[in-house]
Amino acid sequence: MRKKIIAGNWKMNKTVAEAVALVEGLKIDLADCMDVEVVVCPPFTALKTVSDKLENTQIKLGSQNMSSEDDGAYTGEISHTMLKELFVKYVILGHSERREYYKETDFWVNKKVKKALEKNLRPIVCVGEKLEDREAGNTEKVVEEQVRGSLADITAAQFENVVVAYEPVWAIGTGKTATSEQAQEVHKFIRSIIADMVGQKAADGLRIQYGGSMKAANAKELLSQPDIDGGLIGGAALDARSFIDIVKAGM
Ligand code: 13P
Repeated sequence: MRKKIIAGNWKMNKTVAEAVALVEGLKIDLADCMDVEVVVCPPFTALKTVSDKLENTQIKLGSQNMSSEDDGAYTGEISHTMLKELFVKYVILGHSERREYYKETDFWVNKKVKKALEKNLRPIVCVGEKLEDREAGNTEKVVEEQVRGSLADITAAQFENVVVAYEPVWAIGTGKTATSEQAQEVHKFIRSIIADMVGQKAADGLRIQYGGSMKAANAKELLSQPDIDGGLIGGAALDARSFIDIVKAGM
């Protein structure tokens, strides 16, 4: 039985003051939530404050990126040591916005995934096709390449600490959600690739989140699909009420 995991990716939103207001709102309903694993991923500048606010709650902290290096001359980067000091547990890696705007390739995502696992951080590894890929009938080809590339050389045992997020790029921030059937089909496909890579047992234990215009109104149907084990939420995670309602849909 895979425990559902709902994560809020706040992206480049929320000042420290706004982050405090949001997390205080979330705590009212979710501080003791055990049925679903709840994660919030604020921008780096709000991590410390949010971390302090989450002390003694069940809500876990995630970051939106992480360097593949340990320390040193890497201007603008944030290391695993810095994140762990703030009690960060999850790191989103290979988000489509990083792939698209900052040219992150599977090679670099894979380097970061390996570093995260080596340092006991749990990667949320994002994959997903663009609209043109889907329209050309290349969804499976593109997703398979990202899964195999981003997760290369990860062992079955390490997979216990990995979460994959399927985020069709055409559904992100567009209001267009994949139908539950479309999403389920790709989730099942991703699980079959993992089974081929590291075996059925690791594949069966892997949690695969859906992301892309997920909101309270469509969450229940998506989350009731057999291979959809949670959500990675953008816009709807910026408001306490709507995020709480999505978490409740996963209970
Ligand atoms: P939206 O929920 O705003 O579509 O964003 C999804 C996403 O990219 C989460 O990482």
